Amino acid sequence: MKLLVTGGAGFIGSAVVRHIIQHTNHHVLNVDKLTYAGNLESLSSIEQSERYHFSQTDICDRAALDQLFKDFQPDAVMHLAAESHVDRSISGPATFIETNIIGTYQLLEATRQYWNMLSEEKKQAFRFHHISTDEVYGDLEGTDDLFLETTPYAPSSPYSASKASSDHLVRAWNRTYGLPVVVTNCSNNYGPYHFPEKLIPLIIQNALAGKALPVYGNGHQIRDWLFVEDHARALYKVVTEARIGETYNIGGHNEQKNIDVVKAICELLEELAPNKPKGVQNYQDLITYVKDRPGHDLRYAIDASKIKQDLGWVPQESFETGLRKTVEWYLNNQGWVEHIQSGEYQNWIQQQYQTE
Ligand code: NAD
Ligand code: DAU
Repeated sequence: MKLLVTGGAGFIGSAVVRHIIQHTNHHVLNVDKLTYAGNLESLSSIEQSERYHFSQTDICDRAALDQLFKDFQPDAVMHLAAESHVDRSISGPATFIETNIIGTYQLLEATRQYWNMLSEEKKQAFRFHHISTDEVYGDLEGTDDLFLETTPYAPSSPYSASKASSDHLVRAWNRTYGLPVVVTNCSNNYGPYHFPEKLIPLIIQNALAGKALPVYGNGHQIRDWLFVEDHARALYKVVTEARIGETYNIGGHNEQKNIDVVKAICELLEELAPNKPKGVQNYQDLITYVKDRPGHDLRYAIDASKIKQDLGWVPQESFETGLRKTVEWYLNNQGWVEHIQSGEYQNWIQQQYQTE
């Protein structure tokens, strides 16, 4: 197979590309604009493969997309490129509208034009896999409910509203034009190569630097955490096995309060990085409650029974083993972190947390 993967230099996209190159014989074309969140170093383990190809392209650039489809002739598209950080969507929603909505529209149109020219057999086998988030379902505050594939959409942030819009576009292209799509909505991922603006890597990096560990509000918000390599396996199963038009929720059966996640990281660091920065007695002493995120959803939780039943996917990593692997990876890969902590990253941290 030839798979065109958008956003393959990002956190989840790079895990997907590594998975496909390392565990299958397929070819991958990684189409990525390389925003602040894209980093080709995350692909250094597979970049030498002759089955791996890269194009630095903006998914909003229709002419460039048409050329890529013409040259690469993909059998499937896995669409992960997006602006993905909720806090950034609050302070600057424009790029989220641009990439997540307009970019998805341009990619759908480029795909549709290409797909229309395929033979009937190839048309049937083709898939457009849209990778989305559980945040489109909104907040589960005050209930024990889980998100089902049929849960109505109720996004809260500019990020989740833009992802919800893109999900609607993808389903409309299926219903109206017959484009063979599949959609997945996943919970919070964590693991290696995670950009340190998101909770888990930010806490690890700040703790190692002896900086405050910022917890929004009272820290009682709940997220369902899934190890990124489990997500990559699920996505590969869906793109190769799911029936046209299906939606799958993907999750880790692993609800955690933010404050418990932060404390668990501190405990692991006590064991794995006992030589603390000057003046730090216990990593947990660095925990600092800060102003809450506007519109903050209190709880997300996924019912992932459909993907288990239909495709036999279940997560392999427990939160305990996955978090340990993650902390160990950051301790062993400080070079990767240093390279992405460019001026842009410093500007964001200063603006968001008002630090020096
Ligand atoms: P990320 O921010 O780490 O990576 C996004 C990638 O997209 C980067 O490589 C970036 O350079 C690229 N990109 C951004 N704008 C682009 C554009 N206009 N054209 C081409 N490339 C562009 O994101 P992630 O955390 O890896 O998330 C990937 C996808 O999975 C997103 O669609 C996100 O909504 C979804 N998702 C993420 C999570 C999570 O926990 N991180 C959970 C569920 C779903
Ligand atoms: O649910 C899936 C979503 O998970 C994805 O669609 C998003 O792309 C991804 O970024 C993630 O969104 P969250 O907003 O849940 O992730 P984040 O790591 O930013 O925050 C996790 C929780 O931790 C959230 O409740 C906010 C809180 N938080 C976050 C940061 C950055 C803090 O308390 N302090 C912080 O400094």
